[in-house]
Amino acid sequence: MSLSSGKAIGLFDSGLGGLTVLRELHRTLPSQSYAYLGDNARFPYGTKSAETIIRYSRECAGFLMKREVGLIVVACNTASANALSTLEAELSVPVIGTVGPAVHEALETTRSGKIGVLGTNATVASKVYDEALKEQDAALTVISQACPLFVPLVEAGMLDGEIVDKVVELYLAPLKEQGVDTVILGCTHYPLLIKPIARFLGDGVTVVECSKAIARDVGKILGPVATTPAKPLSTEYFVTDEVGQFNQLAAIFLGDRAVQAVRIESLY
Ligand code: DGL
Repeated sequence: MSLSSGKAIGLFDSGLGGLTVLRELHRTLPSQSYAYLGDNARFPYGTKSAETIIRYSRECAGFLMKREVGLIVVACNTASANALSTLEAELSVPVIGTVGPAVHEALETTRSGKIGVLGTNATVASKVYDEALKEQDAALTVISQACPLFVPLVEAGMLDGEIVDKVVELYLAPLKEQGVDTVILGCTHYPLLIKPIARFLGDGVTVVECSKAIARDVGKILGPVATTPAKPLSTEYFVTDEVGQFNQLAAIFLGDRAVQAVRIESLY
C-alpha cells in the first residue's frame, strides 16, 4: 500500500476522541496534511446499533473521500469495531482502524495473559477485542468493561478530580480485582483520562492506547519520507454541529494549536 503524494490523511470520530490519534500523528508524522471530521451532530456513536454505526461511518468516510484524502484513519473504536471491514471493502484508499494496533500493543505488553478492555457499549457488544485477542492466543483471559460515563466526562472537559476518580473506580475495580496486568483503552476518548485511570490501576498494570501503534502503521504506509518535516503541517477540521466547544476543547487537547473547525451542514 502507498499513499498518493500530496494527499491528506483523513480521520473521523464521533467528536473529540479522535484528536488523541491526530495528536500522535502530528507528533510523529509532522510533514503530512490532515483532514479531521468530528461527527458531533450524531455523537455519541457508542450507544447506537451496529447498523447505525456502519451507516454513519460510511457517510463520514464518504465525506473524507470527496476531499480526496489518500488514506483514512478510523479514529473511533466504536466505528472501527463495527464498520472497519465494510470500509475496507468499499474504499479505494488504505483504511486503518484502532483495534488491530491496540491488540498488537497489548500482546507485546502482557505477562500474565489477563487483559482488560475498556470501551463504549457498542464496542464491548461487538466483541471484536475479545475475538482479535483470542485469535492470537486462545489462552488469554479477556475481561471487557463498558464505561458509558467516560465519554460524556471527556466531552465536558472533566479530565480529572473527585467525580472522575469515583467513575474510574466504579468501572475499573472489577478488573483490578481480577488481576489484569494490561488494560486496553478501547475508545479514543479515554486517553484523555489516562492519568486517573493509570493512578487507580497502579504501577503493576500497563495501560495501552492505540494512537502510537496507529501512527506507526500509517508511517509504514507512507515510508521513510513521512517523518521528515519537508513542509509545514496543515490540518483542516470539520464538524457536523456546534464549533465553539469543539474548538475550545480541541485547543486544550492538542496543546497550543489554534483550532478553527468548519461546520458542515451535510456530509453528502
Ligand atoms: N471515540 C469513540 C470511540 O473511540 C467513542 C465516542 C462515542 O461514543 O461516540 O469509541
